[in-house]
Amino acid sequence: MDFTLTEEQVMIRDAARDFAQAELLPGVIERDEKQEFPTVQVRKMGELGFLGMMVSPDYGGSGLDTVSYALAMEEISKVDASASVVMSVNNSLVCWGLEHYGTEEQKQKYLTRLAKGEIIGAFCLSEPEAGSDATSQKTTAIDKGDHYVLNGTKNWITNGGTADVYLVIAQTDVSKKHHGINALIVEKGMPGFEVGPKEQKLGIRGSDTHSLNFNDVKVPKENRIGEDGFGFKFAMRTLAGGRIGIASQALGIASGAYELAKKYSKERKAFGTEICNHQAIAFKLADMHTQIEAARHLVLKAAWDKDNGNNYDLSGAMAKVYASQVAMDTAIEAVQIHGGNGYVKEYHVERLMRDAKITQIYEGTSEIQKIVISRSILKD
Ligand code: CAA
Repeated sequence: MDFTLTEEQVMIRDAARDFAQAELLPGVIERDEKQEFPTVQVRKMGELGFLGMMVSPDYGGSGLDTVSYALAMEEISKVDASASVVMSVNNSLVCWGLEHYGTEEQKQKYLTRLAKGEIIGAFCLSEPEAGSDATSQKTTAIDKGDHYVLNGTKNWITNGGTADVYLVIAQTDVSKKHHGINALIVEKGMPGFEVGPKEQKLGIRGSDTHSLNFNDVKVPKENRIGEDGFGFKFAMRTLAGGRIGIASQALGIASGAYELAKKYSKERKAFGTEICNHQAIAFKLADMHTQIEAARHLVLKAAWDKDNGNNYDLSGAMAKVYASQVAMDTAIEAVQIHGGNGYVKEYHVERLMRDAKITQIYEGTSEIQKIVISRSILKD
C-alpha cells in the first residue's frame, strides 16, 4: 500500500497553504465579525483554479483529482472555513453536477465560467421542512410544455446572495414521489426570483447564507438537468461527492485548531515551564494528533475511491461523520489549551470552534451520515 502523495498533489497542497496564509489570514477575524463575504479572496481563488479543481480544462477547470481537491480544501479550511465552503459548494455540488449530468449547451453556458470562478454557483435543496428529509420537497416546478413554473422557498442556501447560477431541486409530480423531482438551473435576475434576508450565523460567518423565494419563475426546459424525474438522484449523487469536500473542510478546521494549540502550548508558560511539558496538555495534543491523522486517512480514502471509480457513498459518509466530530472535539480542546486567550477573537480558535459545528449539520447531518453508513453495511 502506497500512501505517498504525487508531486502534483504536494504542489497543489503547498499552493493552497501559501494562498491561505498570504491572502485569507489577513482580515479573517474582521470578515467573521462583520459577516463579510471574502469577495476579493474568492476572485483570486478562481484565478488560481481553486473553484473548478476537478473540472476538465475543456470547460475551464484545473483537471485535477479529488485527492488534490481534498488537500487544498484542508489547507484553505485551516485558515478560513468561510472561504472554503464557497469553494466546496462551487466545486463539488455545482461544477461536478453540471459536468457529469449537464448537456453540452449547459456546460458551455454555465460550467466554464463557474469553473474559472467568473461566476459563483449555489445548490438549493433544503427547505423549511425538507433538510434531512430531502424527498419532502414543497417547491414545485410545474411542467408547462417548453418551460417550468417554479414556486416555493429554499432555506440556508450557501452563496445565496452572491451566486449567479442556482441549481434548484423541485417537485414536478407529487404522485411520483422522489421520481417526480427535477433539478433546474435558475439564473439570478429571472423574474419572480428573489433573494431573501441573509442569515445571522454562529460560524462560517464570512459565507453568504440566504433563503430564496421563487414566485412563478419561468424556467426554460433546456435548463433541466438530466431526464424528467432525475432531480432526486442528481441531488443524492452530487451530495455524495460534496460530503468528501465537507469532510476535508472539517479536517482542515481540526488541523488548524491543533496547530494553533500546539504552537501556543510551546510558548505559554505556567508552573515554571511551557505548558506542553505538562502531561495534561501533552496528552490532549497526542489525542488531537491521532484523531486528525485517522480523519485524514478516511478523507483521503474517500477521495481516492472517487478517483478510482469505486463506490464512495460509504467512505464519504464515514469521512464526514468522523472528521466533523474530530473538528468539534479538537476545536473545543484547542480553546481549552489556550485558556482565557482561547475565548477571545485574536487567537482564532474560538472562531474555529464556531465554524466546526456546521460540518456536523450541512450536506447531511451526522445522523444522516449514520443512516447512509448503516444502510450500506447492513445490506449484505
Ligand atoms: N446515490 C444515488 N441514489 C440514491 C442515493 C445515492 N447516494 N441515496 C438514495 N438514492 C436513491 C435511492 O436509490 C432511491 O431511488 P429508487 O427509488 O429509484 O431506488 C431514492 O434515492 C430514494 O432513496 P431512499 O428511499 O433511501 O430515500 P430516503 O428518503 O430514505 O432518504 C437519505 C435517503 C440518505 C436520508 C437522503 O434523503 C439524504 O441524503 N438526506 C440528506 C440531504 C442533505 O444532505 N441535505 C443537505 C442539504 S444541501 C447543503 O447543505 C448544501 C450547502 O449549502 C452546504
